[in-house]
Amino acid sequence: MSATPTTAALLAELEPVVEENLNRHEKMAQEWHPHDYVPWSQGRDFAFLGGEDWAPEQSRLDATAKAAMITNLLTEDNLPSYHREIATRFSRDGAWGTWVGRWTAEENRHGIAIRDYLVVTRGVDPVELERARMDYMTSGYDSGDKTPLEAVAYVSFQELATRVSHRNTGKATNDPVADQMLARIAKDENLHMVFYRNIVAAALDIAPDQTMRAIADEVIGFEMPGATMAGFRKNSTIIAKAGIYDLRLHHDDVVAPILRHWKVFERDGFGPEGEQAREELAAFMAGLDAQATKFVESRQRMRDRLQAKQDTELAPLSQQKDPLLPTPS
Ligand SMILES: [Fe+2]
Ligand SMILES: [Fe+2]
Repeated sequence: MSATPTTAALLAELEPVVEENLNRHEKMAQEWHPHDYVPWSQGRDFAFLGGEDWAPEQSRLDATAKAAMITNLLTEDNLPSYHREIATRFSRDGAWGTWVGRWTAEENRHGIAIRDYLVVTRGVDPVELERARMDYMTSGYDSGDKTPLEAVAYVSFQELATRVSHRNTGKATNDPVADQMLARIAKDENLHMVFYRNIVAAALDIAPDQTMRAIADEVIGFEMPGATMAGFRKNSTIIAKAGIYDLRLHHDDVVAPILRHWKVFERDGFGPEGEQAREELAAFMAGLDAQATKFVESRQRMRDRLQAKQDTELAPLSQQKDPLLPTPS
């Protein structure tokens, strides 16, 4: 194999690795059913069938949990776009094709479970949710012109990012039922991450320079798939403020562990192109770490200010500073 195999040659060379990891995945993945995770006894009809339509006071989720749940669900909803992305990048034949089908079927479960939960428990406005789904799916998701190698590097990080995000959203709901459901979904995302991560590890051995370039570009340009949905900026700020998904988690729990697994900063055998990409990646990671530290510090200052304000409001009147009285010197 030459230093820069063609895309078709690389996909063909990776096929046995895909097959091996598909078998591994099928052995590891446990069967589960979305209906088991939904508290159906809490459900009731909406006005169309003679019941009552949704009203904000029916939701037990706070604004943060709502924002995170909606973002996660809409992201899962856009599955036809992601299916298209990987079905056209990889292949629909052989082990690649089997994986594309299997992965799509597993992902579909996530949207089913979260939607059923939200509608049954009246966690969010189902009309607003449906309109948002229509908009987001109509515009679709387009990753641009990623090569198969870039796509597989991207999804390695993206699957782990969704795992972290689902897991922390579960905790933020303060509902053990939702927490259990999102923990179950997060397990699927983790297995997906392992699959893609192993493919990239094999690609690093077959085509180190090309793969290193793809990894660097995908880390540097990383964007969540939901970035184009309506309200994403506002909701991702809420999600970051709550520590459900933020720069610190992105650096420490998503990107760095995968880079460590691939041993990108310890490997030999890169040519000038791979070395260059690795240097760019190292510089980016250092910048991301610094940005994450700044973000966490400013979030802490904000939380401290909020806490101080609440303490003042809750303190007995005798302890509160009266702005009309002179301060004792
Ligand atoms: Fe998913
Ligand atoms: Fe996934």
